[in-house]
Amino acid sequence: MLKRISEDKLNEIRQASDIVDVISDYVQLKKQGRNYFGLCPFHGENTPSFSVSSDKQIYHCFGCGAGGNVFSFLMEIEGYSFQEAAIKLADRANMDLGVELAPSGQSQQSIAPQFQQMIEAHNLLSKFYHHLLVNTKEGQHALEYLQKRGFTSASIDKFHIGYALDSWDFVYKFLTKKDFQPSLIEQAGLIIRREQDGSYFDRFRDRIMFPIMDQNGNTIAFSGRTLGAGEPKYLNSPETAIFNKSKVLYNYHQARPAIRKLQQAVLFEGFADVIAADRSGVENGIATMGTSLTEEHVSILKKNVQSITICYDSDSAGIEAAFRAGKMLHESRCQVKVAMMPNGMDPDEYVKEFGEEKFRTDIIQGSMTLMSFKLLYYRKGKNMQNEGDRLRYIEQILLEISRLDMAVERDMYLRQLADEFQLSLEALKEQEKQYSRKQNQKQPPRPPVMHKQTVRIKPAYQNAERLLIAHMLRDVDLTYKVQELMRGNSFNIDVHQAIITYLYAFYESGHEPNVSAFLSFIDDVKLRRILVEIEMISVEEDISEQELLDYINQVLKHQKMLKIKEKETELKDAERHHDFNRAKALLTEIIQLRKTL
Ligand code: GTP
Ligand code: MN
Repeated sequence: MLKRISEDKLNEIRQASDIVDVISDYVQLKKQGRNYFGLCPFHGENTPSFSVSSDKQIYHCFGCGAGGNVFSFLMEIEGYSFQEAAIKLADRANMDLGVELAPSGQSQQSIAPQFQQMIEAHNLLSKFYHHLLVNTKEGQHALEYLQKRGFTSASIDKFHIGYALDSWDFVYKFLTKKDFQPSLIEQAGLIIRREQDGSYFDRFRDRIMFPIMDQNGNTIAFSGRTLGAGEPKYLNSPETAIFNKSKVLYNYHQARPAIRKLQQAVLFEGFADVIAADRSGVENGIATMGTSLTEEHVSILKKNVQSITICYDSDSAGIEAAFRAGKMLHESRCQVKVAMMPNGMDPDEYVKEFGEEKFRTDIIQGSMTLMSFKLLYYRKGKNMQNEGDRLRYIEQILLEISRLDMAVERDMYLRQLADEFQLSLEALKEQEKQYSRKQNQKQPPRPPVMHKQTVRIKPAYQNAERLLIAHMLRDVDLTYKVQELMRGNSFNIDVHQAIITYLYAFYESGHEPNVSAFLSFIDDVKLRRILVEIEMISVEEDISEQELLDYINQVLKHQKMLKIKEKETELKDAERHHDFNRAKALLTEIIQLRKTL
């Protein structure tokens, strides 16, 4: 268990952490007036509705309602506990709290002990493999091999690349000496049991080792590359309790901040490509484990970005794979781009031959739309001089055009097609319409884009409550005054009442008005979100006595109205039962209540 962090320390951390700074690690922010704006990292969007207030030290998304202070930002984006967020922030501000974070954070507690041990074994081994590669004579030839291929020592460190000795029992001895059970090491996929005598041998021998990490940075598997021409070229850990290939993306853990910040991910085929791209400054690269993209991969990515650049090998197999991945991502409503290299090269080869800058500018920034890629793709294996091939090509492209969402896009590609093949635009349009119609019959139309930010007009009492809270957040005296004027009545909206109950307690315990500090006082995410939404309402610094009374009246009035309605129902009931005495009494009450409105 972690030690509790004192409130003084928390205050110190809060003061030392600027929310704009912290969020800038994840989101590209632009200053606009008093606030900063950017694309919300918590939901996909194309127009920025995420705002950060430097004065108030809070953030709020008008689109999805996310909001909070610097602590809750890290809690939401990284899945940290409050304490973990505090420790991270203290670290960032070079403060020493005297507490340590478990290797991979809170999620660790939810992992069963034997899985935790498997991860531990991988982590230890990964460190040792790396040491063998960079510091020892045994690893010398492997290091030279990597250097010859253009791997820099910065990359080797960043990706924890290592070397597995040419030994049958190095891993076995190394880990059993550290008290790991052989059966556990075997289940982790690091050693293999011999059928004949039940003895064990190492899975990875004389290979360059690429550790594979999960989303929290735990090493959960390895992929080992031969130094020479041995088979297989890459040997992966088997599927284990902690490693599922179809859910793992290589480098995802390290790339995630860049992916979120740029709102763009680059998908590669190979580890070497991810690393070469990273060296070129493309830090938002990830790769599958040599398998094709799965629905699980897509759903992991979609939590972070909508826009994905596919940068597969530009050989025939790579182009086929890019076509399939593009289709899948498009169907999951991602914005897809495709980056291609010349002469069937792969990204790693390209960087080596043409340099890092050219890779960044010409290949990644110069990537094409999915449709442009398809225009090239369908040409493969066709001879455009041949009429049959040409017609088939035009038909395939028209079909693709008919699937495009935007009329302007359809128009643009139709014109392009008409130009290229000297066809009449009218004829092409006619043909495309037929395809469109067929499409529409086959497929249900795409659901309309949901605008969460629909403008809802709130009733007066609700606005009054919000405005009162907004003022109360700035002023202790006014808060007590409101408490008095409410005469024991509650706010009508439950969450508003919950917020002011917390606020009374916050001020009672001697705190000054400070929304960011107050947010840490509230455990409930929903309350925090609403609080931030209210805080973002800009109110005049001063509120007149009259205004204050008006707001309170509106709040109380709603309660009276509810009471009147209730009495009116009772009245009807009394009349129906010919209980005229009760009816008369109720009527008097209603009239009294009406008078006070
Ligand atoms: P280098 O040859 O080291 O540059 O690797 P590469 O990334 O160019 O390899 P390639 O394009 O051949 O393969 C892409 C990815 O497929 C690799 O990163 C591996 O994940 C995977 N892969 C390649 N060869 C094998 C293999 O023999 N077995 C397995 N399981 N995966 C492989
Ligand atoms: Mn390669």
